Amino acid sequence: MPPRIHLRAAVIGGLAGALSLFTVGAHAQVGAPGRLLASNCFQCHGTNGKGPGFDRLAGQSANSIYSDLKEFQSGKEGNGIMARHALGYTDAQLRELANWLATQR
Ligand code: HEC
Repeated sequence: MPPRIHLRAAVIGGLAGALSLFTVGAHAQVGAPGRLLASNCFQCHGTNGKGPGFDRLAGQSANSIYSDLKEFQSGKEGNGIMARHALGYTDAQLRELANWLATQR
């Protein structure tokens, strides 16, 4: 019965499509993993935020890193490198960054 096989293939294809759509949606919600985002910081703060370089980020709490980044982003900390840098991230990304950096001891 060729028509039935055909139908089954279509259903499976549809399911696979729906699943991959779901995966893309879920990924967008969670955001890029913190370590990948933080690799942008290593040039100045050292690999994994452990220096040498400017302020060491490893060992600080997530809340402290996040609030520093929000301060930079708001412009309250002047117009330096970090103010410019922080502007490039969404709030969710700053959280991801801070949470990941806080896992570094
Ligand atoms: C081009 C160099 C450069 C890059 C790249 C950079 N930073 Fe910075 N960062 C600095 C400098 C310089 C300071 C000190 C600025 C100041 O105190 O005004 C600083 C300070 C900070 C501070 C405050 C630390 C403290 O103890 O007061 C945090 C938090 C921070 N950076 C996070 C990040 C994160 C997260 C990234 C990556 C998304 C990043 N930085 C990328 C140069 C950089």
